[in-house]
Order: sequence, then C-alpha cells, then structure tokens
Amino acid sequence: MSKPLIQLIDIRKKFQSGKITYEVLKGINLEVYMGDFLAIMGPSGGGKSTLLNILGLLDRPDSGLYLFEGREVNTFSEKELSRLRNQKIGFIFQAFHLIPWATALENTLLPALYGGEITKEKIQRAHELLEKLGLGDKKNHKPAELSGGQQQRVAIARALINNPTLLLADEPTGNLDSQSSEEVIKIFENLNKEGLTIIMVTHEREIAQRAKKIKFLKDGKFIED
Ligand SMILES: Nc1ncnc2c1ncn2[C@@H]1O[C@H](COP(=O)(O)OP(=O)(O)O)[C@@H](O)[C@H]1O
Ligand SMILES: [Mg+2]
Repeated sequence: MSKPLIQLIDIRKKFQSGKITYEVLKGINLEVYMGDFLAIMGPSGGGKSTLLNILGLLDRPDSGLYLFEGREVNTFSEKELSRLRNQKIGFIFQAFHLIPWATALENTLLPALYGGEITKEKIQRAHELLEKLGLGDKKNHKPAELSGGQQQRVAIARALINNPTLLLADEPTGNLDSQSSEEVIKIFENLNKEGLTIIMVTHEREIAQRAKKIKFLKDGKFIED
C-alpha cells in the first residue's frame, strides 16, 4: 500500500477558559490516503472544527505527530506552514467567507494572490473553474448578488484555484437549502472522482453518506467502527 497523504498519531489539543481546561482532542489517530473522501461526524462541540483546523495547518496540536506527505509539519515555522497550506490545501467553510466587495472572479483569485502573483494562467483557471461550477454568467457579481448555493460554489472555485492536493470542508452545506446542498455534494463527488482527496465535517447523515468513509468524533476521540 502507498504511503498516506496524512498521518495523525495521538493528536491532543486543549483550550483554557479562565481556570477551566477543556480537553477537546484526546488522542486522535488518522490515516488519509490520496483519493480518499472522508466525512467526519459527531456532536456539536465535539472538536470537529478544531481537528479540521489542525489538519489544515491553521492551528497546532499541543502534542502528537502530524505527517503531511511524510513530512513532520509540527516542526515547520509559520512561514513554512502558510506556504504548504497555500500550495496544497483548499478550504471551504459553512459561512462561505467571501470578500463582500470583491467579484466572484476576484474572490476566486484571492489565494493565487496570497501565493505570489496573479498570472495569466491563474486568471484563465479562475474563468474555467467558475464556468465548470455553473457560474459562467456570475463572474462579475459580488457575493450579495448571489444565492447561498452560488456563493458556496464561488468558495469552491477559490479553494481549487491553486490546484490543491487536499480539500477540507467544515459543514459546507450547513447554511444551504436542500437543492443547493445537493449541488455542493455532487460537486464534491465529481472532484473526488477526478482524484481530489476530501475531508468534510458534517452533522447531516445524508451528506456524510455521500463520502467514501465516515468517522465519528465523540468526547475527543474517534469512535472505533
Ligand atoms: N480557540 C478556542 N478557544 C477556546 N475554546 C475553544 C476554541 N476553539 C474551540 N473551543 C472549544 O472547543 C470545543 C470544541 O469546539 P469545535 O472544535 O468547534 O467543535 P465542533 O466543530 O465539533 O462543534 C468547544 O467546547 C469549543 O468551545
Ligand atoms: Mg464546528
């Protein structure tokens, strides 16, 4: 078997609130392979977003080992982490997090800007992604002029602009009606068929069942299946 894209060994994370310490992740072990489509379910407050933020290199664990493509990212500097994140990981959030004053095309290009310069190829790719996601006639629209489902599709285009290895989605259909949710999960299925590795947090069982694997996070650990 090939090496995992991601390997987590005994990942732990706690938060301090006044004198009280909350242990949110109590020893997470996980292997994710190229081409996987994993859904993570579990009760609210169970640490799903905390885990996704660690996976996405937005937060660091207190202890444990995180290997990304075999590299020990625990030892990376902030600068190295942000470069790896920008090149390899796309993010999708429940609340879209689009920039309100920027058009769909500009929002899509934002991670390309952070990654260096906006090249002709990136602009071409942004156009193609928006067209592929059914937003060909919305490129110059701002988020307020788009439906929730359309905004989330812009967020997907933005997540894909740098051609990531891994797509992370935190409750991607949480703010959407059922038709828009279906559109988004269908897009995920197609991207996964094209080879994209996806890790998605959701509390909706019908959405989770569209993934290839489901894991349940409860009391800071994965429930063994
Ligand atoms: N930055 C933080 N500071 C303090 N507590 C936090 C922070 N982030 C998350 N928590 C706490 O950790 C627990 C798990 O949160 P979270 O990972 O968001 O759970 P989920 O996404 O499963 O609902 C919650 O009790 C939350 O209040
Ligand atoms: Mg959450």
